[in-house]
Parts: sequence; structure tokens; C-alpha cells
Amino acid sequence: MQTCIKNKQKPALLALLIQLTALTLIFPLIAYYPSFSILEWAIFHGIVAAFLSYIIKMAIWWIPIQLCFMPAIVVTHTIGLSPIWFALAFGVLILIYGKTYQTQVPLYLSSNQATEVLTTLLPQKKNFTFMDLGCGCGGLLSKLSKTHANGIFHGIEAALLPYFISRIRNLFVQPNYKIQLGDLWKQNLSHYDIVYAYLSPVPMKSLWKKASLEMRPGSFFISNTFMVPGIKPDKCIKLNDFSDATLYIWRI
Ligand SMILES: C[S@@+](CC[C@H](N)C(=O)[O-])C[C@H]1O[C@@H](n2cnc3c(N)ncnc32)[C@H](O)[C@@H]1O
Repeated sequence: MQTCIKNKQKPALLALLIQLTALTLIFPLIAYYPSFSILEWAIFHGIVAAFLSYIIKMAIWWIPIQLCFMPAIVVTHTIGLSPIWFALAFGVLILIYGKTYQTQVPLYLSSNQATEVLTTLLPQKKNFTFMDLGCGCGGLLSKLSKTHANGIFHGIEAALLPYFISRIRNLFVQPNYKIQLGDLWKQNLSHYDIVYAYLSPVPMKSLWKKASLEMRPGSFFISNTFMVPGIKPDKCIKLNDFSDATLYIWRI
């Protein structure tokens, strides 16, 4: 798990390293071309950083971030925006997204189609237990717990704001739904008949390892959108939603 966490931290550190490398590369040039403005140098720096990120095959969304980082610093410095706004924006992002820089799992919500398909898949009469790993604002659990009084629904969430929203939701629904603040990697999966995850491609290999070690034979692991690399699902259900997602289902 330690190695896994170290690897997860790499992209942000790598991005910082590339910014510093680009700065080191273009810094000596500034003395030779004093007629360029600081903004022009910042744009050039952004292009070099984006190019380096492309060469070392960083994920595609890092390219625009690397490109705009230095120009954004120069522009905001020029217009004299108070640093308090940045601290506030950073605080709000941390509240919403938690340690996304580490987990590489941002917040986005399961579609209505995903909820509808899950509703048809869950047992109609038999009692069962269901876990949503990284339950976000608890919308999925809240809806499923209303249609399935025969189920016990648990969710675990690491980011504070989604957790509080799901707790508030939880106040007004059936007692068969419980949300916990915490890290999904510390959650024991052996108590659940169905484990649902809508995360990102990054944790899927480790999550499969955890699920196959802890989950009981005959229980189900369902992943929305993200495949477990190299493990063929028992069933795939194409959703007709905004991202054309698929539910992948494995019987343990
Ligand atoms: C894509 S959202 C899915 C939300 C919800 N399950 C749904 O389907 O609507 C993923 C959530 O997982 C949470 N998350 C990521 N890593 C986590 C971890 N290690 N422990 C608990 N929650 C985590 C994120 O904060 C985010 O809210």
C-alpha cells in the first residue's frame, strides 16, 4: 500500500519538477533577449513545460495545466489579485475534492441511468448489503435505499464537503443507509454482498486485489466506467448516459 500511495503522488511532483526544469532552461535566455516582456517569457515557459510534459507522456489533462500555470501566475500578479482569494479557492477545492492530488479520483456523480440499472440488478426480496466506495454526495445510496428496503446501504467518503452533504441527506431517509468519513482502502469489504465503485482508472488494479482478497465468494464487484486491467468482467451493461459509460460486473 505504501508503494501504491507513493506512485499516486508522482504526477503532481513530476509536474512541479517540469515547471522548475523549464524555468532553468529558459532563465539564461532572458539576459540575451531583454526586449521580451515578462508575460511573453511566461508564455514561452508554459510552452516548454507543456512540451516536456508531452514528451514524458504525462496524462493529457496535464498539458493545458502546464501550459497555463506560469502565464496565470504572471497575469494574476499583474492585476494585483489578493493572495487571500487563492487561499480561499484552494480551501474550497480541498473541501470538495479532498486529496485528489494523491488519490487521482475526482468527484463526479453516477448518472440516473446507472442508478436505474443498479435498481434492476439488486435483489428484490432477499436481504443484502451494499457498499459504495467513495460515495460522493450520497445520491446513489439515497435513491437505492428508497427502492430497496431489503438492503443495507453503506458508503465511505474521504472528502469533507461531499461527506457532509451525504450525512444531511441521510437524516431524511430510511435507517438502512449509513455514511462514514474515511479512506476506502481501510474499509473491510468482507461484509458486503455488492461493492460498487465509480473512481478512476488509477486505483482499479489495487482495488481488484483488495476486493478479491476480502470479498466473499459469490459476492459482486461492480465498477462504473473503469475496467480492471486484464480481468474479464462476467457481465457488461452499456449505459445510455452522458458519458456513454458501462457497468462492469464481476462475480467473486
Ligand atoms: C467519481 S466520485 C463517485 C461518487 C459516487 N460514488 C457516485 O457514484 O455518484 C468518487 C468519489 O470517491 C472519493 N474518494 C476517492 N478516493 C477515496 C478514498 N481513498 N477513500 C474514500 N473516498 C475516496 C472522492 O472524494 C469522490 O467523491
